[in-house]
Amino acid sequence: MASTVIAIDGPAASGKSTAARNLAVRLGIPYINTGSLYRAIAWKAGQKGISTRDEAALRAMLADTVIRYAVPADGGNPDIEIDGVFPGQALRAPEIAQGASNVAAIPFVRAFTLQIQRDAAKNQLVVMEGRDIGTAVFPDAKYKFFLTASPRVRALRRLAQGGETPDNATVDSVAAEIAERDKQDMNRSVAPLKQADDAVFIDSSGMTAEDVLDAMVLCIREGGDA
Ligand code: DC
Repeated sequence: MASTVIAIDGPAASGKSTAARNLAVRLGIPYINTGSLYRAIAWKAGQKGISTRDEAALRAMLADTVIRYAVPADGGNPDIEIDGVFPGQALRAPEIAQGASNVAAIPFVRAFTLQIQRDAAKNQLVVMEGRDIGTAVFPDAKYKFFLTASPRVRALRRLAQGGETPDNATVDSVAAEIAERDKQDMNRSVAPLKQADDAVFIDSSGMTAEDVLDAMVLCIREGGDA
């Protein structure tokens, strides 16, 4: 049986979160953001003064870390809980993104996160968003989408979002930061960002969020019940 996951992968700021959230609402199922997992590890490292490239220190830190997806007390989608705390919006701070990409390139970190992601989708249909959901985490997902947009459109969207870019950010500086992160995410040795052979490719550069949602819903209808 195909796994009970709808996988949405793609590069940074490609509109995955919006698409995943919208699709989950439309289908009445939970939405799980897996970037938050790597962001939470980078966040804790920052709190402890550990470099996100210091593998020995990160290994020791993870041995003493409990991370899971849990539904917050006020309800909503499962969110990252790390050592009993929901960092929430703190994970979206601009300085966290590159650190998340750094820790995500380390093989033992990915081994640590794999089961957490699989547990989050146990016994329920979910929309899960990330870089390697359709290739490594749930290669047997029944529905897979690979979402992208041009670098300029992605930079503009990220800037318009606010809160996730430094105060002095420009389209060019955001585009450069995104390009740097994509390069690292695509070239790492374990579970690099790439389109699964059986994923539906969507370039959302000229599409609205509603267009993207409609395209995904159409695929799912054509494929039968999710
Ligand atoms: O989606 P995001 O920008 O929040 O992800 C932050 C970083 O986490 C991203 O640069 C790469 C990493 N990541 C990953 O390697 N695998 C995932 N499934 C999700 C995110």
